[in-house]
Amino acid sequence: MAAELSPIDTAKFVAAQRAVGFVENGMKVGLGTGSTAAWMVRCLGERIREEGLRVTGVPTSARTAELALKVGVPITTLDDAKWLDLTIDGADEFDPALNLIKGGGAALLQEKIVATASDQMIVIADAAKEVAQLGAFALPVEVIPFGWQTTKALIEETLVSMDVMGRDCSLRMNGQSPLVTDEANYIVDLHLKRIGNARQLALVLNQIPGVVENGLFIDICDMVVIGHADGRVIVRDINSGERTDDRIDLIPGDNIFADLKD
Ligand code: 5RP
Repeated sequence: MAAELSPIDTAKFVAAQRAVGFVENGMKVGLGTGSTAAWMVRCLGERIREEGLRVTGVPTSARTAELALKVGVPITTLDDAKWLDLTIDGADEFDPALNLIKGGGAALLQEKIVATASDQMIVIADAAKEVAQLGAFALPVEVIPFGWQTTKALIEETLVSMDVMGRDCSLRMNGQSPLVTDEANYIVDLHLKRIGNARQLALVLNQIPGVVENGLFIDICDMVVIGHADGRVIVRDINSGERTDDRIDLIPGDNIFADLKD
C-alpha cells in the first residue's frame, strides 16, 4: 500500500506513525491541521481500532474534526478537555531551536491555543520544513475582518523597524474572496524572506490592533519528528537535546487509507 504513496506522502506518513507511538492510553491529544497532521489522525485511528487505545482528541480545525470522526478518533472541545497531555501537529518551517512558522493551512489560531494548552507539543514534518532561519515561508497573521486594510498597513509600518529582509504583505484569498478562517477572520501573509528576531517579531505583531494572532510558535514545540521517503525517521527532543534515528516499516494496514478511498 505504501508503494502507492508519493515520496513526500511517505515522509509525512512515517513521521506521523512514529509520533503517534508517543500517545499513551487515557491521553488527551491535540490534533493538528494540514496534510501531515491528517496522516497522524489516520495513524491514531488505526491504533484505536487495532489496539483498543483509549484517547480523546481535541481538533484544531473543522476539517481535522471531520477526519477524526471519519477514522474513529473520539473528539471533544478544548473547553471540555481543559488541559492536554500532548499535541501533534505539522509546521511550515522549524528552526534549530524548534521555533516554528505555522498557519499555511489557516488554522494557526486554534493550533496555537491548543498547543499552548498541552504538556508537550510534537511537530511532525518532512525534511524540507527544516530551516537554519525562519522566514522563507510567508508568515501568516490572523486579523479580524473589520478594518483589515488598516491593520495590514499598520503591520507594514511596523515591519520597517523589524529585522526582516522583505516587507510585502498580502491578504490570503480563496478564489475571488478573502479566505475566512474557522474563527471567521482573515489571514495576511507576510513575505519576510528572513526573520532576524522571531521572538521580538511575534510579540510586536500581537500588539497591533486588529491582529488576533501570528504564526510564530516560540518555545512551544518540544520535539520534532522528521520523516524521510525511505522510511527513516529522526526524532529531536529540544529539552533533553537527544536525537534518535529510527525506521518505520512501510507496510501500513489498508484501513489507514480508508478515508482516502471515498
Ligand atoms: C495549518 C498548519 C500546518 O500544520 C502547516 O501548514 C503544515 O501543513 P502540511 O503538513 O500540509 O505541510 O500550520 O495551519
